[in-house]
Amino acid sequence: MSAAQGPPLSSGMSGGQGLRLTLRGIGHAYRGLQVLQDIDLTVAPGEVLALVGPSGCGKSTLLGIMGGLIAPAAGVVEAHGAVADDCLNPITYVFQDFALLPWRSVRDNVALPLEPHLPRAARRARVDEVLALTGLDAFAEAWPRELSGGMRQRVGIARALAVRPACLLMDEPLSALDAQTRTLLLEEFAGLIARAGTTTVYVTHTLSEAVRIGHEVAVMSRRPGRVRALLRIDRPIEGRRATDPDLLAMEARIWAMIRDDAATAERERVDAAD
Ligand SMILES: Nc1ncnc2c1ncn2[C@@H]1O[C@H](COP(=O)(O)OP(=O)(O)O)[C@@H](O)[C@H]1O
Ligand SMILES: [Mg+2]
Repeated sequence: MSAAQGPPLSSGMSGGQGLRLTLRGIGHAYRGLQVLQDIDLTVAPGEVLALVGPSGCGKSTLLGIMGGLIAPAAGVVEAHGAVADDCLNPITYVFQDFALLPWRSVRDNVALPLEPHLPRAARRARVDEVLALTGLDAFAEAWPRELSGGMRQRVGIARALAVRPACLLMDEPLSALDAQTRTLLLEEFAGLIARAGTTTVYVTHTLSEAVRIGHEVAVMSRRPGRVRALLRIDRPIEGRRATDPDLLAMEARIWAMIRDDAATAERERVDAAD
């Protein structure tokens, strides 16, 4: 379930680590409802692109298109770059709702995407490694229902990292969690992603998360979603703090751009619920 077949890959075309993901002229509609239009974006190898925008602007749809789960109505997605030999699934998702199998232990959830590829001993070694990396070593034999939301999402990221992805697609991975857990996990995820050097697209509607974790922040407009601004934060992810003045200033700048859109999206949601 964390696995998805991505766009066709060509290897050896980039000097950097991970994949370069290029979107050209992406558009999409659901039964006549235009949700994405004219999206051009590049995610550089090893970098994190944070994708922000009001609810319903098409972020999840765009992520699905990047991962090859949704065929776009218009445009193309290309993935170029060298994929490491031990990579078992080049483009891998981390889901908001964790998507764990309740009848499998933590260890067996993380092992799931490895099962078709690795023999038992190699699988066990790799699972142990990512469980240690994500602070789950003591919980290997626990069941998902015994874990807090934050620990469950740790399992989600451990499972994703276990396949040594060349590109991680994260769809609001922290939004099901309480504020304190979010802050703590964001710090951890930022460190893990930075050290893994994996090309990452991180969808969120929380601006503080976007500026903390992105090398670049793509700000989308409301439906039909377009990229209205692309902002660069030229500073390593490790070492950033949520309270850094430049990040707070960037956050305020993005908020000024999207507040009207966000308010309108909220009204539409209320209307739709009537
Ligand atoms: N499978 C679908 N069928 C029809 N409409 C959809 C489908 N998925 C999403 N939508 C609609 O497309 C728009 C964009 O959705 P989505 O990509 O989930 O936005 P976001 O992730 O930014 O909230 C929304 O109006 C949503 O209701
Ligand atoms: Mg979404």
